[in-house]
Formats: sequence, C-alpha cells, structure tokens
Amino acid sequence: MATKIHKILVTGGLGYIGSHVVVELQNKGFGVVIIDDLSNSSLSVLDRIVGITGIKPVFEKIDLKEKKSVTDFFIRHEDIDGVIHFAASKAVGESVNNPLKYYENNIHSLVYLLQEINKLASQKLIFSSSCTVYGQADELPISEEAQIKEPESPYGNTKKVGEQIIKDTCSANTLLNTIALRYFNPIGAHESATIGELPIGTPQNLVPFVTQTGIGLREKLSIFGNDYPTPDGTCIRDYIHVVDLAKAHTIAMERLIEEKNTENYEVYNIGTGKGSSVLEVVNAFKKVTGVRLNYSFAERRAGDIISAYADTKKANRILGWKSELTLKDALLSAWKWEKKIRS
Ligand code: UD1
Repeated sequence: MATKIHKILVTGGLGYIGSHVVVELQNKGFGVVIIDDLSNSSLSVLDRIVGITGIKPVFEKIDLKEKKSVTDFFIRHEDIDGVIHFAASKAVGESVNNPLKYYENNIHSLVYLLQEINKLASQKLIFSSSCTVYGQADELPISEEAQIKEPESPYGNTKKVGEQIIKDTCSANTLLNTIALRYFNPIGAHESATIGELPIGTPQNLVPFVTQTGIGLREKLSIFGNDYPTPDGTCIRDYIHVVDLAKAHTIAMERLIEEKNTENYEVYNIGTGKGSSVLEVVNAFKKVTGVRLNYSFAERRAGDIISAYADTKKANRILGWKSELTLKDALLSAWKWEKKIRS
C-alpha cells in the first residue's frame, strides 16, 4: 500500500521562517499548501522554493483577517492533515505605535483559523510563539516552566494571548492537538542563499543590521548598551539557525500526525541553549566573513532584556530535536544571503 502524503497548510509560508519550513516539509515528503497575503513577503519566494526542492507547493493569496476567505479556503481543502501558523505581524516598535493592527492581524486571524481547524477530520496545529513571553526570566537557561511575564509590547502580548487562546480551545475541544514552539532568536538563511530574511526599511534585529553594515548599506552598527551586568556588558541572546528551527517544525508535525503527543497542548523552547553577547556576534561575524564592522556603543534600547537563552532539554528529550548548526554557520549563511540579494 502506498504511504499517504500528508497535506500541511503553512500560513505565512512565503515569509522568512515559513519559507524555510516549507522547504523542510517538502524535503520530508509532505504535501504543502501555502496561504500568504504577501504583506511582508514576495511571490518570487515560491519559485525559490521550487528551485531548492524541485516541487511547487500549492499557493493561495489569502488574508486570514477575512473570515469568509478562511472559511471558503477550508471548504476547498477539508483534507488538510495539519496546520503550521506563521502569518502574523512581527515588528515590535510598530506594534507599540499601532497596537490595534497587531491585535487584528495576529489575534483575529488565529481565531478564524482555529474555528475552521475545529471542523476538520484531522485537527493539528503548530503555533509560532516566542521566548518574548518569558520577558527577563528569573533563572537562566529558561525552561518551559519559567513564569510568563508581563509582555514588553503589543507584539509580545499577541504571542502570550495567542498561546492562551489555543490552550483554552484545546481544553474545550479534546480532538484538537497543538504544539506551541517558543523560538529564541532566529537568524541565518538556507545554504542555497535563495531564501532568507528580507527586512523592510531599516532592520530592527541585530543580524540583518550587521550584514547590511558589512555590505556597506549602513554606515555603522549601534550596539545598544555596554553597561549590562553581563561579562562584556552587552546583552545576551540565543541565536538559532533558521534551518534548525525549521526542522523543529517538521519534527513537531510528525509528532502530532503519529499521535505521539501526550497532551493536546504542548509547549517547547526552540533555541541552541547557548547565549551569545552582541559583541560575540560582531566578533564571530568578523571571523567567518573577514569583514570588520564599523560599530559604536549607544544607549540601551527600551524594552530590551539583559539575557535570554533556552533550556532545550524538553525539546531534546521529547521531540528528539537538537540544534546542529553553530552561530558561525548561521552568520556565514546570513552573509551569503546578504551578498546574493545585493548582487
Ligand atoms: C526582538 C524582539 C522580540 C522578537 C525577536 C524576533 C525586541 C525588544 N524584541 O528580540 O520580541 O521576538 O526580535 O527575532 O525588539 N541590537 C543592537 N543593535 C541593533 C539591533 C539589536 O545592539 O541595531 C541588540 C539588542 O539590543 C539585543 C540584541 O542585539 O541585545 C538582539 O536584538 P534583536 O535582534 O532585535 O532581538 P531581540 O531584541 O532579542
């Protein structure tokens, strides 16, 4: 008997993390349907996915805030075996200035999606959450048991509330099986350098700012604060290669499809377990690329926490997932991507 090809819906599948997950899913033999509203992505990513995998995923341009479009989509695709939900707005600063955009984009869409998943024969969802829900944790490394803190921004709140909405829905509907993955800091790009992060305007995140400075698009990097209580005074984060992160999603989806989950709502930290300071990132970038960055120290950035890195034991033990690529691998891939898009 031929093995069934499982059909996975990836919302936001043309975005930075979504596109890497689509590649990993296709590499593993899943059938993929992408929904994306193209608000922060480009249709050209679809061709790039084909370039890497040789397979064209189904694509539908749908805005998940339009309830009827979501309902109609699931009428056409009632045989979906699982959903991985990325589609969301993610700029922290913008969320502070325009909170309602964030609550509408990130919360309405999740509710409409859950309402439809609740009707499917196979009700499985992986939710893209963030370590931002921990705020400045009291203990490091941060385990899934750590207290959820008051969010620093409306964006952070949409992740916290999103998790709660899913958890409540799972309590009410025991047929629904979900996994929330709390990502630490995703960086890097696919080794082909054909998909990667494409920030609009001035990058807010460290690594895109570093690569754009390296290539000469930005004059210099400002390091936000060098008086933190860390060994070199700069903030510490857990930078995880986006390809490792993508693999965590395929493994989590397999867990749901094989019905190996022990709870119908599970949460895992996805990071490397290793913290790196901003200065360590800058130095590692110089080592792998040979490019010396122009940088200076600036004021602390409002809302930044001092240090965050993951306790990954739960993901290692239960999911059987572990990050394989290093910070240097990730920085080199981000650099190759930057050079490719500017060439
Ligand atoms: C940020 C978001 C977080 C989101 C994550 C997605 C904030 C406060 N948090 O996390 O909610 O989930 O992105 O990846 O925005 N840095 C500099 N100079 C720069 C840019 C950054 O020194 O030009 C420093 C920051 O102060 C921080 C570190 O680099 O210490 C990492 O910053 P960033 O990449 O923005 O990630 P987070 O702030 O950890």
